[in-house]
Amino acid sequence: MYRADYRAGLLRRSASKSETLQSGSLKDARAGVRAPPERDIRQLSSSDLLSLEASERKPREPKGPKTSEERIYEVMLRQELESFVRLTASALRLEDEVLEDTDADEGNDPAEEGAVTAEGTGPSRVLLRTLTEQVLPPVAGTASAQSAVAAYNPSHVRVGIIGCGRIGQVHANNLANRVPNAILVAVSDALEEAARRVAARFHVPIWYTKAEDLVHDPRVDAVVICSPTDTHAPLMKECARYGKHIFCEKPIALGLDLIDEALATLEAANADLREQRLQIRKSGLKLASETGGDYLSVAQWEHDRRLRRLQRSGIQLMVAFQRRYDQNFQRARLAHDSGFLGRPLKLHLVSRDPAPPPVSYLKASGGIWLDQAIHDFDMARFLLKSEPVEVFATGLCSDPAIAEIGDCDHVMTHVRFANEAICVIDNSRSTPHQAYDQRAELFGTDGSITVGQRVSEHR
Ligand SMILES: NC(=O)c1ccc[n+]([C@@H]2O[C@H](COP(=O)([O-])OP(=O)(O)OC[C@H]3O[C@@H](n4cnc5c(N)ncnc54)[C@H](O)[C@@H]3O)[C@@H](O)[C@H]2O)c1
Repeated sequence: MYRADYRAGLLRRSASKSETLQSGSLKDARAGVRAPPERDIRQLSSSDLLSLEASERKPREPKGPKTSEERIYEVMLRQELESFVRLTASALRLEDEVLEDTDADEGNDPAEEGAVTAEGTGPSRVLLRTLTEQVLPPVAGTASAQSAVAAYNPSHVRVGIIGCGRIGQVHANNLANRVPNAILVAVSDALEEAARRVAARFHVPIWYTKAEDLVHDPRVDAVVICSPTDTHAPLMKECARYGKHIFCEKPIALGLDLIDEALATLEAANADLREQRLQIRKSGLKLASETGGDYLSVAQWEHDRRLRRLQRSGIQLMVAFQRRYDQNFQRARLAHDSGFLGRPLKLHLVSRDPAPPPVSYLKASGGIWLDQAIHDFDMARFLLKSEPVEVFATGLCSDPAIAEIGDCDHVMTHVRFANEAICVIDNSRSTPHQAYDQRAELFGTDGSITVGQRVSEHR
């Protein structure tokens, strides 16, 4: 019952019963909002809090209907997250089992040949508190109705978002309202105000100002990293140490050495998880029997169930390249896959944003190639199905504020691929008509396809 009501606004519902409002997050959220003079802030329900939030926001400029580019952008970001949640749900095997933890398939793992299996194989619940504590701290009580639900939600991937800025809010909206089988249980931002506002807006029960606190929270299965680029690699490593599935905004880091290090930490964590699983099976331990054993709480039981799945699946990592979910680009890839184009010879990509991000963002972004053209490098690999072998690039800067930080805002990149195809990528941080302009022409020996606002094929 809780689950069904949760996303529709459990926060609002339970707020009417003041005794359930014990979560530090909501209490603090109240403290930060001005009460109307005639009412005591402590008497405000969460719905009052939210309407206050809304009234405090500046009125929006009237907005015309969404352009097709805006709609495509929204859809591909949603589909990208759906794909991550599917990946994670399948790793945790939440979609096909609700409460039963069966290990019927475990004997088929060739990596574990020779392992001594637990006596009386078949459906079993191997619940190892000691191992749990090695990987994650014990579940910290269920102080409020909200955290109880967040801790015990057998069929949903429980997601936390780090960074409540531009992209973090888009992902929060999708996770809270559109992505099936996901529940947004926590958000974090270095700026308390940002974390508090996003939590209130999307009915998220827990918020933090320290990203590490979110990563360490055992009620979080998967973390969506949307903080500035230079924080991604350290946070990825923290997630790996604490057994959290990771969706990381691009790029993983500003340098290859940092990326390699983060990936190595992830691999080491997965090797540890595999080893733990092997040890459990070798020892034949069944610390808690089918009777449910001596579990402190349902939350603890649920936590151990997920840990067991994690030991089997390993930590999943997905890096955000949402353009792969743009159906137009998928169509171009299909033209290649189907043989319609013959051998691919040339690829033209045009990728221009409506307006540049703030200079404060650009300073920490790694520059236009690492921050913006990265999507096109990924798209070129996706469409040409090959790896680059040679790169040549030029750029200019038309915006004095961007020139001052040593970056470019209009660039061209020429890439040669291992399959001999050549590619030209045209990036701009802004367009005079403020459009999100994404186009590709893939040209082969037998045909060509142009995708963008509309699709045209020629033979
Ligand atoms: N896939 C895409 O199309 C896309 C689009 C935009 C941004 N991004 C990526 O997302 C990341 C964030 O970009 P943005 O535009 O949302 O930036 P932003 O500056 O709007 O937001 C970043 C947020 O993170 C917070 N923050 C800073 N340090 C933090 C920390 N240690 N822990 C928690 N929060 C912290 C900031 O207070 C801010 O609210 C960047 O790496 C960027 O490359 C990707």
